[in-house]
Amino acid sequence: MAEVTRERWTSRPYFIFAALGSAIGLGNLWRFPYLTYEYGGGAFLIPWIIGLIVLGIPWMIVEYGMGRYFQSSAPGVFAGIGKKWEWLGWWAVWCAFGIVTYYTVVMAWALRYVGAAATMAWGTGEAGAEGAAAFYWGEVLHLSSGPDVLGAPVGALVGCLAIVWVIIFLVIFRGVKVIGPVSQYVMIAAWTFLAILVVRGLTLAGAVEGLNYYLTPDFSGIGNVEVWFAAFSQIAFTLSLGMAGMYAYGSFIAKKGDINNNAVITSFGNCGTSFFAGFAVFSIVGFLMQSLSIPVGEVAAKSVGLAFVTWPVAISMMPGANAFFGVIFFLCLFLLGLSSAYFLAYGGVISPIMDKFGISRTKAAAIVCSVAFLIGIIFTCEGGLYWGPDILDRAVAFYGLLITGALACLVVGWGFPAKRLREHVNETSDFKIGAWFDWLIKIVVPAGLLFVVIYGGFVPDIAAPYGGYPLWAASMIWVVLAVTLGLSFWLQAIKTKVPKEVGEK
Ligand code: PHE
Repeated sequence: MAEVTRERWTSRPYFIFAALGSAIGLGNLWRFPYLTYEYGGGAFLIPWIIGLIVLGIPWMIVEYGMGRYFQSSAPGVFAGIGKKWEWLGWWAVWCAFGIVTYYTVVMAWALRYVGAAATMAWGTGEAGAEGAAAFYWGEVLHLSSGPDVLGAPVGALVGCLAIVWVIIFLVIFRGVKVIGPVSQYVMIAAWTFLAILVVRGLTLAGAVEGLNYYLTPDFSGIGNVEVWFAAFSQIAFTLSLGMAGMYAYGSFIAKKGDINNNAVITSFGNCGTSFFAGFAVFSIVGFLMQSLSIPVGEVAAKSVGLAFVTWPVAISMMPGANAFFGVIFFLCLFLLGLSSAYFLAYGGVISPIMDKFGISRTKAAAIVCSVAFLIGIIFTCEGGLYWGPDILDRAVAFYGLLITGALACLVVGWGFPAKRLREHVNETSDFKIGAWFDWLIKIVVPAGLLFVVIYGGFVPDIAAPYGGYPLWAASMIWVVLAVTLGLSFWLQAIKTKVPKEVGEK
């Protein structure tokens, strides 16, 4: 009988660095600070921390624990619960594949900006502050007028995207024995850069004003449901759950390894990083308010605008060493994205393909990286921003992530069921979790996620097309979800070609 020994993390810290790297990504630096600002500063932190503890950590234990139990990535886990559930694992795999195709394009922008910052291509001082927006929308993206004008790929971005994918391939094609140590270096470098940015930010004039916005709680907002679903969806996104990959990362944990404490460490490590990044972002916002004499509400602090316009403006206005801080910022962004991107590619897509079809790692990696690169070229086109980081993002990183996550908790909670998982993880963990876990997984987590899908998703998106786009473009959200669901059932129908793993290490 063919015996296959599953690959293992070569040490526990390597697993923790890899898991932290997967969770800590672009979102920590641009999404968390923005949401905090938008939803009442310090008051947002309360639902966010509740979401972390009540939804995030238990769900994380599900993904690590189920991967370890079945020694398999997401599709194998759900096939293990019952063959009829395998599609659910594949659906998450498709979402992971979707997200990595455009997430890497944002990394390509960051890489492009490492070069631009080295020469301060958008200008220094007042001129730079004025030129930064035009540089981003015009020179870098060649942004078209809307999703109906896709235009041609932008050469420099295609080149950067190719570099991104070559790096990802090199990190993953030898499996987790390389991913572990690389993650350690990537994370330590990224945190170092972040610390440099925080210190630089805090020592700029006006920083205190910005921090006041960040940290002063405005409790009037806390009764507002919107604040709660923003906080919950951010928790799901930032922990990289619902994207298949954590099952695979969990499946590489030694059979006697800890699960519960690893889930707590990675969740708090991730959220601590977000909180820390907020200091860099808000001190910069305060600095801009003061140096440009504008009210804080007018400092663009949202997603791509924050990273690729507001930061370049701030970098231009700094008193000195502008290019240095520019390069540090974009390298930091790039590294944060990198460890999330190879997690999505490897844990989310390649590992499931290997588990199902038994093809070699190198071959699976080469195929996935090339296809994802080719699809990513669409998002380097002039209208690519609308399609990738916006419309596709809404489909896979909002709906896909939350719906597959809620269904996964229901299937595990009621079908596996939760008690069996709890006993399994408690056997080898540093500390035990109690029976409360079962009810969180069976009811509270799925209810919390579906609440976000309904009130934060269906209600607004049915009332008006998403993002103010034309109806046909916004409808692609539903097309993507339906097609990937269909493909998942198709994959379920195909016979698994790999002997069940029996090796022990
Ligand atoms: N957690 C990542 C971030 O905050 C995003 C991500 C989501 C990455 C899902 C992988 C999977 O940027």
